[in-house]
Amino acid sequence: MYGIAILGFGVVGSGVAEVLDKNADRITLGAARELRLKYIVDIKDVPDPYKNLLTRDFGAVLDDPDVRVVAETIGGAGIAYEYTRRALEAGKSVVTSNKELVALHGCELLRLARERGVNYLFEASVGGGIPILRPITQCLAANKIYEIYGILNGTTNYILTAMIKQGASFEDALRLAQASGYAEADPSSDIDGIDACRKICILADLSFGRHIDPDWLKTVGIRAVTAADTAYADRGGYKIKLLGRAVANGDGRVSAYVAPHLVPAENLLAGVEGVMNAIVVRGNAIGDVMFYGAGAGKLPTASAVVADIIDAAKHEHSRKLISWDTGEPSMLRDSAELVSRWYARVAADEAKILTAFPDAEVLGAVSGETAFVTGETSKAGIDAALANFGVLSLFRVIG
Ligand code: HSE
Repeated sequence: MYGIAILGFGVVGSGVAEVLDKNADRITLGAARELRLKYIVDIKDVPDPYKNLLTRDFGAVLDDPDVRVVAETIGGAGIAYEYTRRALEAGKSVVTSNKELVALHGCELLRLARERGVNYLFEASVGGGIPILRPITQCLAANKIYEIYGILNGTTNYILTAMIKQGASFEDALRLAQASGYAEADPSSDIDGIDACRKICILADLSFGRHIDPDWLKTVGIRAVTAADTAYADRGGYKIKLLGRAVANGDGRVSAYVAPHLVPAENLLAGVEGVMNAIVVRGNAIGDVMFYGAGAGKLPTASAVVADIIDAAKHEHSRKLISWDTGEPSMLRDSAELVSRWYARVAADEAKILTAFPDAEVLGAVSGETAFVTGETSKAGIDAALANFGVLSLFRVIG
């Protein structure tokens, strides 16, 4: 028997059980064997029909030779880290949706999996149900990936979409996201860009082959985006989106960061609304490819976790070749050096702006305030150019 244990029966864990049950025929066909959910490990009770699978004794799960794959859907880097290590050390494959754990300890856990001849798979950790990690490591394996960027957080995209479409303030849009069940009571990991940061780090680790730690990145969330900014941008044909971005520089270093950007209408990311995610991968053979879909949610995320369970079952006696090396902060190049156009909203009349920036694309102006897009320059360049102005907002323009 190929037994499965689910660790943590929250939204994703219960979704994994549901998908395993609902699509059992298809899953058996894909894995070429019957998979059986044998244990659910949680400190809380679980509902019917799963009550008889519940245990609080993870040690017993590890000791059961029938359990071949553990689906870790606990989240965080505390107990989830300990249980993942113990499962891999016990010779069981582990699959997960836990981006925090993968971003912090993926390199080490992949090495441990390699040493024990098992797999550590985490397709669901980035983009929820969107196939993105496997395409990077397999379908796009013939490419040198030189840039990857995208909308990696559904909550912030929902908030920004409400600001754009309804003219809502950031605070009102956040309340709406909380009332709709998207944003958590403490929404900081989403709105401060921390969640997107973990995801761009995982994408960069896989694309560029070295560990990039979330702590090394400049991460700016969406608190500073105002309804005025979304309206000015919209008027000029741009949408404001929170993007995670990682760029391979010619010198071998990587520039990576998270920040709000203006996205022009012709970029497909501009049309990505609500809680949807989308990721653009730029490869030297393929050109640009975009991956779009549900970046979160019970069944979309479970879809990716269960696909990893199937993959682990199929590769029980071989290993998926996923890994990256350790890294150090010196591998990163300051993202401020990246050249781009910039959106600025400044406390100055349009005439004054056009004198200082003759090529500016003015998006809108009211008395004493002008919003415009500049030509290409670095962060230092734009800071110097704006030194004599009262800057109200400043965001990069992508693409
Ligand atoms: N909080 C995340 C989001 C969930 O809003 O995208 C999926 O990682």
